[in-house]
Amino acid sequence: MPGKHLTRFSRHSPKEKRRRAAAVQNLADTPTLLDSRKRLGLRQPSGAFVLAALSVMFLLPTVLAEVTNSIAAPKFLGSQSCSSSSCHGGAGEKSNQYTIWSTHDFHHARPYATLETARSERLAEVLKIGNPTQSARCTVCHAPFATVPAERLGHDVAITKGISCESCHGPAENWIRSHTRPDYKHADRVAAGMRDLKNLYVRANTCVACHQNIDPEIRAAGHPELIFELDGQSVTMPRHWRETNSSAQIWFVGQAVAAREMSWELSNQASPDRELSERRSALVWILSYQQNSPMNLSSPSREDFKQTQASYDRFAQQFADADKFPVDPAKTVGWLANAGDTFTDKNISTSHLARRAERLVLALDRLVPELPGAATNPAVNQSLSKLFADAQSLPDFDPKLFAEDLKTFHSSVAGFLEPK
Ligand code: HEC
Ligand code: HEC
Ligand code: HEC
Repeated sequence: MPGKHLTRFSRHSPKEKRRRAAAVQNLADTPTLLDSRKRLGLRQPSGAFVLAALSVMFLLPTVLAEVTNSIAAPKFLGSQSCSSSSCHGGAGEKSNQYTIWSTHDFHHARPYATLETARSERLAEVLKIGNPTQSARCTVCHAPFATVPAERLGHDVAITKGISCESCHGPAENWIRSHTRPDYKHADRVAAGMRDLKNLYVRANTCVACHQNIDPEIRAAGHPELIFELDGQSVTMPRHWRETNSSAQIWFVGQAVAAREMSWELSNQASPDRELSERRSALVWILSYQQNSPMNLSSPSREDFKQTQASYDRFAQQFADADKFPVDPAKTVGWLANAGDTFTDKNISTSHLARRAERLVLALDRLVPELPGAATNPAVNQSLSKLFADAQSLPDFDPKLFAEDLKTFHSSVAGFLEPK
């Protein structure tokens, strides 16, 4: 079934893991970040700094001295303060967020536990950073409370709880009491300091901070490649809210933000990393595949990293507003299903085509469920699963086979592309 693929897909074959050997650093270019970078006099901020600027919560000691001088940063109170059964620790849909997070979410105990595994130990050995559970280079994403100074942590905060409510919703000190007031609207809570995760742009920026760019040195030491896709990953998370936005919109905003991040990273490299360049070109391709795609960036500006970074940031902000979101899922699926010729183009390297296939199947996975009836159609499902299988391993990627299977997919989905 669509929606299930992403998890399967992110478990790369050992052969592929060996081959994916370069990576990127964690960056996000929002105005806040630029400001904080300037303030800190940083040329190349590390992931830690980005997170700090994004959320004012992942503060490392160096940054802290600067920031605490200017703002009184609110405290983190810990997930315990959200956990009572009458608040978010209940069973019903309205009150089960803590329950979902603590029993099903990848972010609960797992990220910290991962740092205690043999694999993390090996990574730490290569990087010569000692115990990974105590290194900010790992905890900044895997156990973010560990990088928050003690005076900003409530006494119930447990570092082992990985990525907790406030890692995404923002430190609760200033809004914990008021957010339950019946006369409070979402905007009032945001004004009190809760992060505006209903805004897809803000949401994408929150997740991408830990899910796309990683220090190339950590990547080279054997850390898995990170791939950001907001909609699929929200389902896998699993989500603990009622979603009102369409998958297509969430997918687009997430992919635009991912493209922005990769462009930022490349714009800072003296000689652009080949793997990252291919990953980024593949993403640019999928977003601007057709001339009349709303995200089409006509050449030659496509390869100007600074310019594409700015364009994709604009797209992401603009398309986060449902009223301004111009994409028709059926048309997009139609274009993509018809992209077979791309995969028989001898001028494009197989490794680059493998990256396009990777993005293409992730896109179909999110867009097909938007076509009424398509996601439950056995022929559509079967042909989509085949495409996933084809794109699973980069070194084994066979463009010709993929082109053929894309044709099969096209015929299976064709009946769902026309308005009934
Ligand atoms: C503070 C950093 C951080 C933030 C913010 C964050 N994550 Fe994660 N996430 C992680 C880490 C670290 C893991 C890896 C867990 C492990 O396997 O150890 C993870 C794992 C996941 C997984 C399971 C692995 C995968 O990629 O399929 C999903 C899905 C996921 N996150 C989705 C999201 C979404 C959606 C958001 C935003 C709403 C988000 N995350 C925000 C750090 C973060
Ligand atoms: C930029 C954020 C970030 C940083 C920094 C980071 N990680 Fe991760 N790590 C992640 C995310 C996200 C995943 C999940 C990837 C997925 O499943 O797709 C992950 C996955 C892993 C995994 C694989 C887990 C599994 O079983 O699949 C290991 C091991 C790991 N990280 C260890 C480390 C160590 C050790 C460090 C420090 C040297 C570190 N990480 C630094 C974000 C990060
Ligand atoms: C990885 C990021 C992340 C973590 C961790 C997280 N949330 Fe959320 N949460 C979100 C996003 C994204 C939304 C959707 C935006 C919204 O509705 O505000 C959301 C929505 C919610 C909502 C609104 C539900 C609805 O249907 O309107 C509540 C309540 C909530 N979260 C509580 C919690 C609690 C309590 C925890 C900790 C136990 C938690 N969240 C942990 C990202 C996260």
